[in-house]
Amino acid sequence: MSKIDPNTEYRAFVARENADGSFSQALEKKKISELPDHEVLIRVKYAALNYKDALSASGHKGISKNYPHTPGVDACGIVVESASDQFSEGDEVIVTSYDFGMNTSGGFQEYIRVPADWPVHLPQGMSLEESMILGTGAFTAALSIYKMEINGQKPEMGPVLVTGATGGVGSMAVKLLHQNGYKVIASSGKASAHDFLRRLGADEIIDREEVNDQSGRPLLRYKWAGAIDTVGDNTLATCIKACDRNGNIAVCGLVQSPELHTTVYPFILNGVNLLGIETAETPRDIRLKIWELLSGDWKISELNSIKNVISLDELQSHISLMLAGKSKGRCLIKL
Ligand SMILES: NC(=O)c1ccc[n+]([C@@H]2O[C@H](COP(=O)([O-])OP(=O)(O)OC[C@H]3O[C@@H](n4cnc5c(N)ncnc54)[C@H](OP(=O)(O)O)[C@@H]3O)[C@@H](O)[C@H]2O)c1
Repeated sequence: MSKIDPNTEYRAFVARENADGSFSQALEKKKISELPDHEVLIRVKYAALNYKDALSASGHKGISKNYPHTPGVDACGIVVESASDQFSEGDEVIVTSYDFGMNTSGGFQEYIRVPADWPVHLPQGMSLEESMILGTGAFTAALSIYKMEINGQKPEMGPVLVTGATGGVGSMAVKLLHQNGYKVIASSGKASAHDFLRRLGADEIIDREEVNDQSGRPLLRYKWAGAIDTVGDNTLATCIKACDRNGNIAVCGLVQSPELHTTVYPFILNGVNLLGIETAETPRDIRLKIWELLSGDWKISELNSIKNVISLDELQSHISLMLAGKSKGRCLIKL
């Protein structure tokens, strides 16, 4: 295998901590030799922007502790060097999860180097671009439905609520649930995105305030048979209170806040199940299973309607949009 010159320069998005404790971001030139010392060197073709990246880029120490840092928890590309017999030069691969983009240099750059047990081969019938429209967003949505169904969720039980429905995880959850035969209630704060949500397959669209119960009651009249929640806090508490008997709630995110205040009544009177969704350390056999579903039985149609492809130069402004809760669908970075 040919060796790439370690002095080769490439473009990277870098977040830096300033002397006054503030954070700034810029496009910089880096050298291959500056990448971490792992087994597989990859020329990145696409990355995708997730909420976690927006936090990492703005100095959220719960995500990334050490700066300067290049975020990006989702990337795909072509192997250019491999010290592992699992991968060869020219292989098309996807890298998501583990520590990628958190404390390990991530996907917002032209080259990455990662441990050999992190990449998965691009599944047959999926393009590199498609793999990033899917990325952690679809992986999280698919893992949620997978765990809900293992726990007995079925379309006949009634509609499933998706909160933060226009977001990266939410939009994929709406689409996947719809394709899998579920009636979908989409909760969104964006009145302008109703057409987008209907095209994804939402049967009913409600304002996010309807999933923000302030009554103080421990239980509400049933409104859904399960939920995929990306928001947390009182939104999650409301998902739980208004869930029908034996319904499953996949707990994915915290865009409102990480708080959760509830009583035990929904659990001990209605048998509601809370399912924790953690994609980063998903065991490899389940990881491969989810990618197999996403390229086969759960293949998502019309992916192009969910994507927004930008360049590395436009990334900063899209991070600001995401932090303001204004992003829609999946934002891809072409490198
Ligand atoms: N558990 C895991 O392994 C895992 C994996 C991936 C992501 N996540 C988490 O899932 C969450 C969503 O990630 P994402 O990449 O989909 O983010 P995203 O694209 O920014 O979507 C979040 C959506 O939430 C809604 N929203 C934003 N601010 C809100 C607020 N203050 N209150 C209520 N709703 C609000 C908005 O949708 P509407 O305007 O439609 O309401 C927004 O589009 C994040 O917390 C992320 O960290 C977890």
